[in-house]
Amino acid sequence: MVGKPAVGQKDTKILLLDDSDAVLTAGEMLKAGKIVIIPTETVYGLAANGLDPQAVKEIFTAKGRPQDNPLIVHIASVNELDMVAKNIPESAYVLAKSFMPGPLTIVLEKKDIVPNVTSGGLDTVAVRVPSSDMARNIIKAAGVPLAAPSANISGRPSPTSFEHCKQDMIGRVDGIVQGENCCVGVESTVISLVSNPPKLLRPGGVTLEQLCEVLGEVEVDSGVVNKLSAEQIVASPGMKYQHYCPSAEIFLVSGSSQKFGEFLNEKNGFGVCFTEDIPYICGEYLCYGHMEDYKTQAVNLFDMLLKLDDLAVKTAYIHAPKQEGMGLAVYNRLVRSAGFKIIEL
Ligand code: TXA
Ligand code: MG
Repeated sequence: MVGKPAVGQKDTKILLLDDSDAVLTAGEMLKAGKIVIIPTETVYGLAANGLDPQAVKEIFTAKGRPQDNPLIVHIASVNELDMVAKNIPESAYVLAKSFMPGPLTIVLEKKDIVPNVTSGGLDTVAVRVPSSDMARNIIKAAGVPLAAPSANISGRPSPTSFEHCKQDMIGRVDGIVQGENCCVGVESTVISLVSNPPKLLRPGGVTLEQLCEVLGEVEVDSGVVNKLSAEQIVASPGMKYQHYCPSAEIFLVSGSSQKFGEFLNEKNGFGVCFTEDIPYICGEYLCYGHMEDYKTQAVNLFDMLLKLDDLAVKTAYIHAPKQEGMGLAVYNRLVRSAGFKIIEL
């Protein structure tokens, strides 16, 4: 850890959606070494000039992020890949053709221009081209690649709305740009192209099935849905740390709607459920979408975890989605938010 996140030390500039200069102002601030929260299609990101070690260090301080957890570098176009990466394999361009711009991050060999603080000391760099026009326009206005992790305090659920960002980050960052709510709702898929076959490190907005269609074989890192043992070497440092935790204690529960409902009623517990479960539940609940509508579940996921805090829920039982399509990304976030506590009914 870099120590506790800085609290209330910065005079945070709020750049509103109807301010026609917001993109340019954010670009100028980033160029000048400031840290600014920007909207993307996945989650809001806390951005800084990814080539400026001092600016990047400020991201780690604001979030209280462990220093060995590398940041994703955001560029405005696939044409800029070779600015930050070298020995780029053909598979990168194959993926780019189908999914970039979009919610996909590829891990490649790093060029020296990317400072160690950005890559967490690794000799690889994670790169993404967001599909959000606003995000790409801010990168263009800044004129530099932007390092940007999710704009939450480390360990907390990621922000998918301007309101979420304001709650956690006012006073810790130089600026927050207001955008629309994030339309994907979970972070980008991270795939390493340094491994052979390519390795899925984090499921996200592009599904494993979509990746396999384009690449053929894709290995899934065991850390995607399993708890890593202390001695295991991690392919992605982010896997080591606690993630997506609201104040409530979370349990992930799998089983049919009827069994889930009966379990909740017996426990008299707070449920986070699918629409199909509602007829079976007698007590309090939040619903996060239909059972197989993984895209809607993803859009609602982090807002729902943060709502548990607003409602001062102490313990919540969340009905687990199937691990298929975007359901794998939702499951990956939930199993972490539950600290891998799973109840099979
Ligand atoms: O959708 C997203 O990816 C969002 C938006 C803001 O773009 N960003 C985001 O960043 O989720 P962050 O820092 O919260 O998550 C980045 C993940 C971490 O798990 C990190 O360990 C992994 O990517 N990562 C970054 N660079 C890596 C590298 N060189 N090798 C392996 N994993 C890497
Ligand atoms: Mg994050």
